[in-house]
Amino acid sequence: MQLKVTIVGAGYVGLVSAACFAHLGTSVTCVDRDRSRIDRLEQGESPIFEEGLDELILEGQQRGLLHFSTDLAAKVADADLIFIAVGTPSSKGDGYPDMAQVEAVARAIAPVLSGYTVLVTKSTVPAGTGRWLETLLRELRPDADVDVASNPEFLREGCAIRDFLEPDRVVLGADNERARDHLQALYRPLADRAVPVVMTTRETAELIKYAGNAFLATKITFINEMADLCEKFDADVEVLARGIGLDRRIGPLFLKAGPGYGGSCFPKDTRGLITIAERAGAPTRLVEAVNSINEDRKASMAERIRGLLGGSLEGITLAVLGVTFKAGTDDMREAPSLDILPRLQAAGAAIQAYDPAGMEHAENLLPGVSWHEDAYDAATGADALVILTEWSQFKALDLLRMRETLGQPMVIDLRNLYEPQVMRDAGFVYHSVGRGSRTKFIERSLGVVSSDAAE
Ligand code: UDX
Repeated sequence: MQLKVTIVGAGYVGLVSAACFAHLGTSVTCVDRDRSRIDRLEQGESPIFEEGLDELILEGQQRGLLHFSTDLAAKVADADLIFIAVGTPSSKGDGYPDMAQVEAVARAIAPVLSGYTVLVTKSTVPAGTGRWLETLLRELRPDADVDVASNPEFLREGCAIRDFLEPDRVVLGADNERARDHLQALYRPLADRAVPVVMTTRETAELIKYAGNAFLATKITFINEMADLCEKFDADVEVLARGIGLDRRIGPLFLKAGPGYGGSCFPKDTRGLITIAERAGAPTRLVEAVNSINEDRKASMAERIRGLLGGSLEGITLAVLGVTFKAGTDDMREAPSLDILPRLQAAGAAIQAYDPAGMEHAENLLPGVSWHEDAYDAATGADALVILTEWSQFKALDLLRMRETLGQPMVIDLRNLYEPQVMRDAGFVYHSVGRGSRTKFIERSLGVVSSDAAE
């Protein structure tokens, strides 16, 4: 079956999906109402920062499989599948996903549907959205031959292309045979490479997305609490993560302690799930706790830094490496820095910061911060170096140069990028998250442990 796909929304999920479907041989048009965004894309320039995406867009265009347009109506009639990849932000108030953009797409396509079409939600949407969209379309166009399906996405920023092309699984939610066949045909190239496909109902597929993100957020929050506990016993959370992660029922991934999770998905989707569950009369108390522990963590990170600098930040200059929500992205959405840095400033600290990709976006969001051209420039004369994200260049600092650049040789590493002993030997006062001084040495001497499995 040679399918034609239209993707509505040239944002993160829409663009990555469009470029990847084209790479897999499908003819795709990605539609967005933002003319300047589409203009840039037509010229082969990606408006978002994602490794490998520019190349993939160019490849799709050169093969004649990837097109861009602002004219949604024109791209509906001949599409076999229309993907909705628009934003579903937390609505103001209770965090329930705001479905206005999804509804607007359904209303825009209804009058122009022609031939059999499957409308697929790729945006993260509450359970029941598929059913609601179907009812809406049947009202607007009783004669249209259309089904609504769900195909949630599990892309991580920074490795979204690989996550799309080599996923752990594909989740397809459809309530009838015809819609299912279309989706299966579209994903055949991945199924042929032995990617597991979970075929299910729309509601289950919709919930899988929230449940997956909430579970991962829970894992991170759990290890963050264990890190705090480790500190009380001079134990080592990296070794603890390995010790539990080798149990296959737990698994080694997403057990990196840090300053709390951020980004466009985990905070929004945990809040979304909490309200969805509340409204459905089945509250998720565990997820509620995860959400509030993660919020508190950012405040406690600021407190930790203040404490390590003697209790007062008046007259203190802090060098901060990394302000985005994680490495490998320019995305500032719900970055822990947005909470931590203003708290440090309010306590009197001056901040000198550097980020390899995020400074342009961060400038307006973090007023009063001075921005620098590299890690050493940011560190000049500072009383401590605070590492907030895990860029590989932050793992490979010239320690001698850094020690001489800082005003005081203190490093507060909230991503555990360095071995405590190495840093102490290099002359730093080194603080990290959840790591004691002895554990590694004991395990190393038995030749047993490397603690880097938990990435
Ligand atoms: C996430 C999900 O992984 C993806 O499946 C979903 O579809 C979208 O949301 P993303 O937000 O890009 O992807 O980032 P991810 O790599 O999952 O990290 C999220 C946050 O958790 C970051 O702030 C990161 O620093 C933090 N994190 C992650 C940890 O603190 N520890 C970990 O072990 C892993």
